Amino acid sequence: MSLIDSGPGGADTLQLQVRAIRLQAERTHSFELSHPDGALLPPAQAGSHVDVHLPGGLLRSYSLAGDPQDCSHWLLGVLRELDGGGGSRAMHESVRVGDLLTLSAPRNAFALAPAANHSVLLAGGIGITPLKAMAHVLAAQGSSFELHHCVRSPQYAAFATELDGIVPTGRLHRHFDGGVPAQGLDIAELLASPAPGTHLYYCGPAGFMQACADASRHWPAGSVHFEHFKPPISTAPAMPAGSFEVLLAHKGVRVQVQPEQTIIRAMELAGLRVPTSCLSGLCGSCKTNYLEGDVEHNDYILSDEEHKTCMTLCVSRARSPLLVLDL
Ligand code: FES
Repeated sequence: MSLIDSGPGGADTLQLQVRAIRLQAERTHSFELSHPDGALLPPAQAGSHVDVHLPGGLLRSYSLAGDPQDCSHWLLGVLRELDGGGGSRAMHESVRVGDLLTLSAPRNAFALAPAANHSVLLAGGIGITPLKAMAHVLAAQGSSFELHHCVRSPQYAAFATELDGIVPTGRLHRHFDGGVPAQGLDIAELLASPAPGTHLYYCGPAGFMQACADASRHWPAGSVHFEHFKPPISTAPAMPAGSFEVLLAHKGVRVQVQPEQTIIRAMELAGLRVPTSCLSGLCGSCKTNYLEGDVEHNDYILSDEEHKTCMTLCVSRARSPLLVLDL
């Protein structure tokens, strides 16, 4: 991460044209985006997401659901949330074929491990989007994998036709629970006995994420990968009291962070801009290396290993009086 001059049309953004919008499932549309001139898009690994600048000034992160090996277009899958903050409504109601949208460059905090013996892809609802991209890559590599898609009913199974064509026979499992998770896939049973070299990837709504986390606690370190698309409601980090000082090592600038103030906010007030998107510890936009200090990590994206050197400035804080950032 670096200090940047980000924003619509800035150096880290692209203007793409909406080429197609397709109904994928109940309340779910896909949006196919490509360069207005037909130029190839930057490579995006499976698991990547982009920030989309939406009509009305909203900014939302969406996973790329297309085939990462195809740079002719990017594909988003968007569920229209009934109680969301307006981002999915804006995508569904205001975006039309032919429109130009401003997007960030892709970021990936949910990458495939390079050498797994077997991969278990576990999706809840619209959480299928990054896992579909992974399925494209694993299938092309001839890698061993299985994909489980947990949804309310067949009407909610987005990208069903495409997945049927991608995933090898017998490796795609759809689980319908009628809206009652206990009637669906027994996640604890599925994840009870991980075979050596198996990696797990999961993405979905909060309850699904919790079930997957609980069921995979005994898996070997480094073999479990996940991406939240909303902060877990019940465990939203409380902002600890106490101020501390942030030193930007390379700039030589010091910023005081007040109680109930985020590092991002304190830096903004000091005229220092950093890239942000979710402001919830979910997307990794504000991930920054730190050189010194005792960090309280409140994000949902970085691994324990990454926490030794990196932090998210939007939600994480210092317990120590001084925090030195690699900026
Ligand atoms: S802005 Fe998304 S993790 Fe900080």
